[in-house]
Amino acid sequence: MINIEPSNNLKNLPPYLFTKINQIKKEVHTKNLDIIDLGMGNPDLPPPDNIIERLCDTVKHHRNTHKYSQAKGMPKFRKTIAKWMDKRFGVKFDYENEILSLIGSKEGIAHLCMSYLNSGDYVLVCDPTYPVHFNAAALVGAKIYNMPLLIKNNFLPDFTKIPEKIAQKSKMMFLNYPNNPTATVVEDNNFWKEAIKFCKKHNILLISDNAYSELTFGNYSAPSIFEFPGAKDTALEFHSFSKTFNMAGWRLGWVCGVKKLLYPLEKFKSFLDYGSSTFMQLAGISALNDSQTFGKELSLIYERRMKKMVKGLQKLGWRSNETKGTMYVWARLPDCLIKEGSLSVAERLVKETGVVISPGIGFGKHGEGYIRISLVTHEKRFHDALLRIGKFTKNAQKNIKFSRIYYGK
Ligand SMILES: Cc1ncc(COP(=O)(O)O)c(C=O)c1O
Repeated sequence: MINIEPSNNLKNLPPYLFTKINQIKKEVHTKNLDIIDLGMGNPDLPPPDNIIERLCDTVKHHRNTHKYSQAKGMPKFRKTIAKWMDKRFGVKFDYENEILSLIGSKEGIAHLCMSYLNSGDYVLVCDPTYPVHFNAAALVGAKIYNMPLLIKNNFLPDFTKIPEKIAQKSKMMFLNYPNNPTATVVEDNNFWKEAIKFCKKHNILLISDNAYSELTFGNYSAPSIFEFPGAKDTALEFHSFSKTFNMAGWRLGWVCGVKKLLYPLEKFKSFLDYGSSTFMQLAGISALNDSQTFGKELSLIYERRMKKMVKGLQKLGWRSNETKGTMYVWARLPDCLIKEGSLSVAERLVKETGVVISPGIGFGKHGEGYIRISLVTHEKRFHDALLRIGKFTKNAQKNIKFSRIYYGK
């Protein structure tokens, strides 16, 4: 057997956040413990019927759609996106040069890093954040500068805290609002204006990861970064069908921005893949044209789930607030669990109770002390999940009292 090592950049990365949790989940499953999965942001509900029908019909009756597709996306797909971006956000894009189809936005984000970054370049990344933002940059040997998302700043980064020297060396900044994992939305448009100003001043490519733009609650509606002056000079924006239309496994997304900033990714991808399959793009067209109210209906379900989960956690003494978007609840570990750390809590929780959640540390060091709950299980199961979390918390409280009495700790 040969003895060959993977690249140093790959070796230096720990396994992906869900690899370990999924492993434990499997072990628990074999012990017949009932699992309530609130871990990955993997929608439990199906896409709209018309999209499924369109896909089946196309696959069955249109043989041409089985051929290689156009890597950058079919013109019809890109035209539909341009129309949707205009209708939804009032922003205009030339479908020929300013929109690129993706095999999910995760693929696009990772390949964008490979298209732009050299080893040693700095990337400004929120902490905590969707792990692909830092892992993709690390895979090409880039240096990560973490912008902490703190509760006192409403989980928004403070651009004034970025040292001038770092800003000068930085090539990219990632922002993602509505946010994974904190579920924060941006309500003050000045934030986007400041981000654009900062990135233009320092010659930084600003990435707006807008995967949750359609999952918002009440009167709040998430903007596109391109609604703000100057954005086209510095930004690219990623969108996804995964969450808006429950099409996570279908792998379809897009990125838009001016040709000068977008073209390196188009070129890079032309060496790697042939783009999303034609039948998938046709289904995507149906989604954007014919299921325009779907995101709103889905948001109502997530809002109901969010309220139920937050209320339940608060009753157990956990700190968590109602949110205005996404499919997540971000909750502070109670005092009795904080010392143990979020990874150990997540592992024990699934092993002992069958409830799967995500440890905050998996999203960055400032995520420590928190857990993320994905609202991807029917709320009928929440009562049970909360009962188990409650029992788990009580046991931790008892153990702490016990150690204080017997060991004086
Ligand atoms: C912020 C964010 N961006 C991108 C993605 C990936 O989306 P896609 O399924 O389009 O690759 C996710 C998935 O959870 C996400 O949370």
